[in-house]
Amino acid sequence: MPPTKDEFRKAMGRFATGVTIVTTGVDGEVHGMTANAVTSVSLEPMMILLCADKGADSHDILSRAGVFAVNILSEDQEEISDRFANKETGDAHGLDGVPHRIGKTGAPILEGTLAYVDCRTVSEQDAGDHTIFIGEVVDAGFEDDGSPLLFFGGQYGRMA
Ligand SMILES: Cc1cc2nc3c(=O)[nH]c(=O)nc-3n(C[C@H](O)[C@H](O)[C@H](O)COP(=O)(O)O)c2cc1C
Repeated sequence: MPPTKDEFRKAMGRFATGVTIVTTGVDGEVHGMTANAVTSVSLEPMMILLCADKGADSHDILSRAGVFAVNILSEDQEEISDRFANKETGDAHGLDGVPHRIGKTGAPILEGTLAYVDCRTVSEQDAGDHTIFIGEVVDAGFEDDGSPLLFFGGQYGRMA
């Protein structure tokens, strides 16, 4: 018997991750989405991947834009994570009031994060109810200090 969806979700929830805001921009429109299904893929060439729900507003914007940046949140950025994970709040996914600059690809780079990786999408793989966006790395930056916001068992956490 395969696991139920809830069992599967709970099992994968035991995999502790960081939290990122994936940003993209196209035709003057900028957009952010909270994501933890992000991983490094290749060093030569440098590539990362992002899994985006086909039902998310971000999905089509990511596809149209052909670029995305992964902004890795620090432990004091839970509020911004909630904002970009919660569709209920008005213009939650635009970047009004969120300090940022436009990166090399045209994707927004958020301020106050631990690191960012700015990518051009080179492949979109169909994967059930998600699409895997594979991005070739155009630019990246990081802070030497700081601690990450974590996600484990459906809850935020901090390093001890
Ligand atoms: C910690 C956390 C991680 C998430 N990771 C992802 C993810 O990797 N991919 C995804 O499609 N949605 C993920 N979500 C859900 C989206 O952030 C959420 O569905 C959001 O409302 C999508 O916004 P949109 O419809 O404007 O694109 C995550 C949510 C949280 C709280």
